[in-house]
Parts: sequence; C-alpha cells; structure tokens
Amino acid sequence: MSYTSAAETFDLARAQDVAREEQARAQAFFGTACGNAAALLPILHRLQDMFGYIDQTALPMIAKTLNISLAEVRGTMSFYHDYRTARPGRHVLKLCRAESCQSMGVDHLVDHLAARHGLAPGETSGDGALTLQNVYCLGNCALSPAALFDERPVGALDAARLDSLIAEAQQ
Ligand code: FES
Repeated sequence: MSYTSAAETFDLARAQDVAREEQARAQAFFGTACGNAAALLPILHRLQDMFGYIDQTALPMIAKTLNISLAEVRGTMSFYHDYRTARPGRHVLKLCRAESCQSMGVDHLVDHLAARHGLAPGETSGDGALTLQNVYCLGNCALSPAALFDERPVGALDAARLDSLIAEAQQ
C-alpha cells in the first residue's frame, strides 16, 4: 500500500475540528493552567497523519484556536524535521543523516540518489512515487546506514538496496 493512499485531501474545517479536539483533550489532561500550547504538537501530528502534510493555511487557524502566536506555530513546525509542508509522494523514504549513519557512509548514498535518480532530500520524484526526507537517528544505529520506507525499518543500506526500494516505490 502506498504511503499517501489513505491520506485525505486537506480540508480546513476538518483541521479545525482536530485542533479543537486536541485543545479539549490537553485541557482535560493537564488542566487549563498548562496553557493551550500543550495541544500544539498533538494537533500537528494528527494533521500530518490525516493529510500527509500540514497545509500552511492551517497555521493561522491553529494559532488562533490555541491563542498563541503564528510565529510559535511556525517555529515549532520548523524545529521538528518530521513535519512536512507539502503533500508527499506515494511513498516516503526517511534517510537517517545522524552520526552513526554518517560514519557508515550515508552521504555516499545521498550522492547516489542525486546522481542516479535525480532526487535530493526534501524533494519528491517527478513521477510522484517517492519523497526523500532527512531524519536524525532512528534508533537503529546498529544497522547504519538506516532508513524508514513508509515507516518500515530498513538497515545496512547500500546503493543496490536503495535502487530496489526506488523500484518498489515506482510499482
Ligand atoms: S544515527 Fe542513524 S539510526 Fe542512529
């Protein structure tokens, strides 16, 4: 199954329902004294799960719902590399760029992806099959270089294995 086949088309009204639900959930759990910002990460997670990314038009609505600044919402989104601002390809390859994977040659794999497939981190292939995303430690350091292919762990990556994942994405 492709990564985005279950994702809904972005809908601001649905996004607002999510924001209100998570705001109420945070208040019930932490109490009102904790402030509304406690709901921010759960809202962003759910929106990305639902739509495959977080549409920028949702950000002012989130800020207004939580009574926080738009800068705070944008700052949180940009701090966490996992949040996407555009709809991804049908499959997503999250490639670990942290220390252990670097020492085991992930940069060579990034070069291979660019040279052989014309794909750089943060980009989606022209056919919409695959989005390549950097992540920083997947907790699978023993099998560096490591990745997640549609949330499926992949370890001990090499160029041949990468090529087979791309072929799988293109099916
Ligand atoms: S550094 Fe890549 S999985 Fe930990």
